[in-house]
Amino acid sequence: MEKLSDFIAFKSISADPKFESECTDCAIWLSDYLQGFGVKTELIPTPTGKPVVYGRIGSGDTKTLIYGHYDVQPPEPIELWKTDPFVLTEREGRVYGRGAQDNKGQLWYVIQAVKARADSLKEEVIFLIEGEEESGSVGLSQILSSIKGKIKADTLLVCDTGTIDERVGALTMGLRGICHLEVQIIGPSKDLHSGVHGGVAPNPSLALVKMLGTLHDENGRIGIPGFYDSVKEPLKEELALAEKFPITEAMYHGLTGVMPFGGEKGKSIALRRGFLPTIEINGLRSGHIDEGSKTIIPSTANAKLSIRLAYDQDPKETLELVTNFLKLQTPLGLTFKIIDSCAAGRALRVPISSPAVARAKNALIKSTGVEPLYIWEGASIPVLVSLTEVSGAVPVLVGFGLEEDSIHAPNESFKITQWDKGYKFALEFFG
Ligand code: BES
Ligand code: ZN
Repeated sequence: MEKLSDFIAFKSISADPKFESECTDCAIWLSDYLQGFGVKTELIPTPTGKPVVYGRIGSGDTKTLIYGHYDVQPPEPIELWKTDPFVLTEREGRVYGRGAQDNKGQLWYVIQAVKARADSLKEEVIFLIEGEEESGSVGLSQILSSIKGKIKADTLLVCDTGTIDERVGALTMGLRGICHLEVQIIGPSKDLHSGVHGGVAPNPSLALVKMLGTLHDENGRIGIPGFYDSVKEPLKEELALAEKFPITEAMYHGLTGVMPFGGEKGKSIALRRGFLPTIEINGLRSGHIDEGSKTIIPSTANAKLSIRLAYDQDPKETLELVTNFLKLQTPLGLTFKIIDSCAAGRALRVPISSPAVARAKNALIKSTGVEPLYIWEGASIPVLVSLTEVSGAVPVLVGFGLEEDSIHAPNESFKITQWDKGYKFALEFFG
């Protein structure tokens, strides 16, 4: 707990350039910690500035590569946190703090298990812990092929996922891919009086919401021509396992405060979450958003979007398709601008009948006493597809997060009993 508090105290927010030195300090601290129990470590620089913590321990005929991330999401809105996001605080069986679960907390049980097994490892364990997962893993992706020789492995273990029922362990068998972008519609050179200019000047805010409204059709399906062309259907075996995902509409409401009525009509939750693509608006910014009325035509309007990719969609091509679709609709007199865009990574599919999955499954059965669930997750870990390709390793994704951990939100936490389960799982995995 004490050391985890030190880890959490670093404001390693990869998305905000202000925190670049905190990211580096966090990487140095982590590398020193690993060295402390015999891991031979190295900080690998990346073109984007956040170093990768690399390390090796143990020996044997096989290798397991552990991937994780030391960066975290921004803590905002700060006023909604009950305690300081960067001071690990224990209450009611949980530890609170940014990164308490995603991913510092989960990484911590893996590290503690490898530490406990340090003298009896039957294989070589390689750590690859990056500082930019939460903003698309751009730096690591660029250096992957240059460190190919260092990351060759048989198994890739990632503990950065969750489960739906705390009594049951989960193997995550798929992740969606992801692109994100910010678009801006530029109009008048200053905010205009909405009476003097209303009906004469084009309104960037109005234009943007209209454009965004065309992304989906009335059935919730993405309305961009060609968008689904390369989407691969799930295998029968995958779908059968995915549909066992034990969630009802009422449960979903209990967890989120909203009924699961988003996305494509007539498709199951498991299918919509794990196998279908989605475009979501992450944020909108335009005009007067503070209290009270203000009669203006805003000079600009911005939207942040994320695109979750189904299996086999190409991030770059899809990003281009979406961008052009929006751009072509820009009304006369207004300008379309891309503020930021990232084709982060492809969707991952874990082979169901691989020895690596069997190993993780056995470790889960031993540590939890029950058969694990198979989950096709809607979230993303952008670098994983490239990492499996370059390392040659078969991925296994096991995590103990729960929806109520509120990752990426205020008051992120990790349930201590879930941490214990993670630790026991990892001990079995490396036993
Ligand atoms: N740990 C999450 C991914 C995750 C969340 C897996 C919930 C399973 C359940 C990871 O840190 C994450 O948040 N990824 C981002 C990547 C993006 C910012 C490029 C995501 O999915 O939004
Ligand atoms: Zn995250």
